[in-house]
Amino acid sequence: MCGIVGYVGRERAQTVMAGEETNGAHGALDVVMEGLRRLEYRGYDSAGVAVLTGDGVESRKKAGKLANLISELETDPLPRSLTGIGHTRWATHGGPTDQNAHPHLADGGRLALIHNGIIENFAELKAELLEQGVVLISDTDTEVAAALLGSIYRTLSEAGTPNALPLAMQQACQRLEGAFTLLAIHQDSPDLVVAARRNSPLVVGLGDGENFLGSDVSGFIDFTRRAVELGQDQIVTITPEDVTITDFHGAPAEGREFHVDWDAAAAEKGGYPSFMEKEINDQPDAVGQTLLGRTDLKGNLILDELRIDESILRSVDKIVVLACGTSAYAGQVAKYAIEHWCRIPTEVELSHEFRYRDPIVNEKTLVVAISQSGETMDTLMAVRYAREQGAKVVAICNTNGSTIPRESDAVLYTHAGPEIAVASTKAFLAQITAAYLLGLYLAQLRGNKYRDEIAEVLSDLHEMPEKIQHILDNADHVKKLARDMSDAKSVLFLGRHVGFPVAMEGALKLKELAYIHAEGFAAGELKHGPIALIEDGQPVVVVLPSPRGRDSLHSKVVSNIQEIRARGAITIVIAEEGDESVADFSEHVFHVPQTPTLLAPLLTTVPLQIFACELATAKGYDVDQPRNLAKSVTVE
Ligand code: M6R
Repeated sequence: MCGIVGYVGRERAQTVMAGEETNGAHGALDVVMEGLRRLEYRGYDSAGVAVLTGDGVESRKKAGKLANLISELETDPLPRSLTGIGHTRWATHGGPTDQNAHPHLADGGRLALIHNGIIENFAELKAELLEQGVVLISDTDTEVAAALLGSIYRTLSEAGTPNALPLAMQQACQRLEGAFTLLAIHQDSPDLVVAARRNSPLVVGLGDGENFLGSDVSGFIDFTRRAVELGQDQIVTITPEDVTITDFHGAPAEGREFHVDWDAAAAEKGGYPSFMEKEINDQPDAVGQTLLGRTDLKGNLILDELRIDESILRSVDKIVVLACGTSAYAGQVAKYAIEHWCRIPTEVELSHEFRYRDPIVNEKTLVVAISQSGETMDTLMAVRYAREQGAKVVAICNTNGSTIPRESDAVLYTHAGPEIAVASTKAFLAQITAAYLLGLYLAQLRGNKYRDEIAEVLSDLHEMPEKIQHILDNADHVKKLARDMSDAKSVLFLGRHVGFPVAMEGALKLKELAYIHAEGFAAGELKHGPIALIEDGQPVVVVLPSPRGRDSLHSKVVSNIQEIRARGAITIVIAEEGDESVADFSEHVFHVPQTPTLLAPLLTTVPLQIFACELATAKGYDVDQPRNLAKSVTVE
């Protein structure tokens, strides 16, 4: 998501990079613009910079790509400066406009702030600041954080407090909830940048007579390879000579220094060999960020973006989920959850099939359009058709400002961050998470579930990032098996209930990445035909439901495993931790942490993604750009 860069240098700084020695610090603007260019891969829809000059803070910002900011800087140049901050924004609160772009100014234009993340209690803080007479001009939570910091700074400064900016940052952070990286400069402190981080990335780059900050090391990789990793809830102050780290209460803290040995291209991938691997590993964050800020202080779900009249949502008598590919499998998971929690009949349809079959949709139908890109033409056309019939449309989308959300009645953004690899991974998990939130919200609104029941599911959901991380940290066995199976000609996938869409997604990943024939089946369908495909040595991946869920579900799939084993299949089973029921009659069993059945797809999908990615890599294929595929399918 957002990219962040900070820089402070002194005139006689010396930097040696790639054999080139410079006398005199880099200009702040050059460093910041180069860092932003390197961070472009994170995805963004506006960009801005602020520098400190002899006259104070000067800032330029523009909606759209960096090219727009560059032309703005050509038309209205900034003076040379040795202190600056820069930002590429991935819109969350407020659309991608010039006004909403960062930096945001406060303290009468003397302070500039940039931010990555979401300030969850921004509404409460905003009300407080407005009451104090603060004027806010954007729709962002960031401007609220800037105003808060500015107001604390003013009080400290007028009381003659030394070192007021770091202190003000500490006090502001104590008031903020949510996830944030913040960087601030103030005209009273010309050679200082203050930053803070909570649940959002920030690293320090160490130079000689100059220091750097970046969302990741690509923000300064052209200038230094010495970096410092920060801990949670820390404030860092950089000057040309020093880096000082404290916690949010001013107690000294330490970071871990490391040497960056990636090249610049690898840095953009966070050190992973491919975007796909990075994105698979981003999934704890993708799910965590999608959950963030969606409940109020009383634990009620507040889906702010869902601006469809509540009375309409209460009277909905049918839900139709429209999507393609992986997004349609997320839709199938949504169906199980929504029908179970809300008791609303829910259909899932491929967008391109939907509008050619004269579907029955009307004012009482709620259409949920799921699209990572927000630009899939099939889904867009289906959305238009559904709205013409009077249906209300909620988009679940990962791309702010894209067409499908724009043409829908409401949107629930997934906050997975940019997905660069063509085959979808983290967007899938984020879509499922958003669909769960939508289902729970409808259940809350329509009174299908008590508040404590909803709170219990939300609490289970909040445990998911950690459980996904556990799977990622223990994936060696899956990876080894994938490498051993790189000669496979065909792999079948079986699942039941929510395991069925997971099986289809597992098969799709293998087709897309490794070009291996793969099919996903409902396990119960096996005896109705697909079992004819089983012969000696046929690999079959089975997504086994939890034995703690509906008893018949688990035992039926165990029987299916025995049936295919009896016919020579090699079985690879994804089972819940503690489930040893198939240990004696399966070649391979991968365990995932225990979780309620409906939420299991957030876990059981992960080994299947790793399996496909590793197998394709072993075959020497480009996992980021599989042949014949495009990231956004903008033609029908
Ligand atoms: O951007 P969308 O979610 O609308 O894209 C839908 C499909 O094209 C997409 O999920 C596709 O199936 C991917 N290749 C899956 O990896």
